[in-house]
Amino acid sequence: MKIGSLEHRDTFCSHFASTYLDYDPEALPWPVLDEAALQRLRQVPFWEEVFYSERRAGAIVAAFTETVSDPVLKEALALQGEEETRHAKLIRVMVERYGLDAPERPIDDLGTDIETSFKDFGFGECFDSFVGFGLFKIAWQSEFLPREIMQIFSMLMYEETRHIVFFINWMAYTEARKGWLARTVSPLVTLRYYLRALHYKIRFARRGQKVNDGKNLAAIQVGMFLDGFNFRRFLEDCYAENSRRMSVFDPELLRPSFLPQLTDVALKALRLWGRRAELETRSGPLPPLYGAHPGSAATRQPESS
Ligand SMILES: [Fe+2]
Ligand SMILES: [Fe+2]
Repeated sequence: MKIGSLEHRDTFCSHFASTYLDYDPEALPWPVLDEAALQRLRQVPFWEEVFYSERRAGAIVAAFTETVSDPVLKEALALQGEEETRHAKLIRVMVERYGLDAPERPIDDLGTDIETSFKDFGFGECFDSFVGFGLFKIAWQSEFLPREIMQIFSMLMYEETRHIVFFINWMAYTEARKGWLARTVSPLVTLRYYLRALHYKIRFARRGQKVNDGKNLAAIQVGMFLDGFNFRRFLEDCYAENSRRMSVFDPELLRPSFLPQLTDVALKALRLWGRRAELETRSGPLPPLYGAHPGSAATRQPESS
């Protein structure tokens, strides 16, 4: 299937529509939580942010849908907008039901260029979902909350996975339709949007630090689920969960590949580092490597030993 063809458009749009889940957040099987589970749920520091992000997501996707003329894309985008709005409703139902601290903040300006806002939102979702896959797996395995409520979040994760698969295909389709130049620079465009997404996340984490008395919000979030947090294990969980969740989608569709590839490289480096550190603890410092090119990293002496 040629990326950018009408066949491509019809495939990713019809796949998105055919995997739609029909439910009403009010009618979901919300469990009665005991006091300990209720406390754990209330301790989660990001409900206000999640509630806000879902409401903003619904507004961005709806506003962008208005500007799209292709009827097939418009219909699929309208469905995504409805799903984002339903996510906000789901969070609202949960906040009210369990008395969580998540006041409704007014939505910031959506930006003057709604297409750019939609792309920023889409790449941000790819970023959040990849990290969310790892967090969710840790929370699931540590039985942080009862299974019934985790099943509801699991459905939400599935919908977010559908959104990012749809978005990556929409992005590739849109870029490919612009011609060979846009196709050639497309990886650079992707990189630019991921860097912007990273920038927004760092800004958000800094804001969170202030709110949480200077403690790191991300560390608090992960630390809540797992004592003795291990960064390599977390990356491995993100990577493995991403592969597992993506495996259920039509193999013909594109998937987000930037973060999984970057993580794969980082994990290989961390494993190598870990193996060397392990050998050094067992047998002392390792001898230099012979046969390496003079001046290469392998022949340089460590600065301190
Ligand atoms: Fe959402
Ligand atoms: Fe989404």
